[in-house]
Amino acid sequence: MEVEAKLNVLNEEFSLRHDRNPINSIKSRLKSALSIAEKLERVDLEMSVENIQRDIHDVAGIRVVCNFTDDVYMIANALLSQDDITLIRKKDYIAHPKDNGYRSLHLLINVPIFLANEKKIMTVEIQIRTIAMDVWASLEHQLRYKKNTVFTDEMGDELKKCADLSAELDYRMERIRRQVTG
Ligand code: GTP
Ligand code: MG
Repeated sequence: MEVEAKLNVLNEEFSLRHDRNPINSIKSRLKSALSIAEKLERVDLEMSVENIQRDIHDVAGIRVVCNFTDDVYMIANALLSQDDITLIRKKDYIAHPKDNGYRSLHLLINVPIFLANEKKIMTVEIQIRTIAMDVWASLEHQLRYKKNTVFTDEMGDELKKCADLSAELDYRMERIRRQVTG
């Protein structure tokens, strides 16, 4: 909630200044107890608050879908420049896409949360991507993890080509926007 509020403020401010929204949508989720248990089991750790805090960094996750690629970096930089936010790790899968074609900017941050009797530092995983990157990632996830079917190398190659097409789409759409907005 805390980080989502910050993102909404940034979106609103930019919209007032530049007459367009950098953010298309924001989805936040808390990892379910079951998913946390499964993840701990995979790395052979027992369920404990200490293990969760030390090893599971995506208990709180936010996905920010931006309109254009430069919006992704603008939002990330604006968020990271706030003095109560600490960057723990950044993975730029836009500058360096994964082999399968996946693109997004991943930030792992710490943010203080003020509760009734204490201040707690919480870790949040933020994925920032364009609409086109989001479409590709959602469909790739559905296709790759479809039950009872084999995912072939050819399918992987085809998905990679789709990722390249979506990168091209982002590039060309941003170029048009620059012409429109100057
Ligand atoms: P883990 O969450 O343990 O995998 O940690 P990590 O930090 O090594 O992973 P990474 O930052 O690479 O990715 C974390 C999240 O990004 C995943 O849970 C997905 O939501 C998303 N993601 C990463 N790679 C892919 C991919 O190839 N396809 C899709 N659809 N999503 C991906
Ligand atoms: Mg993961």
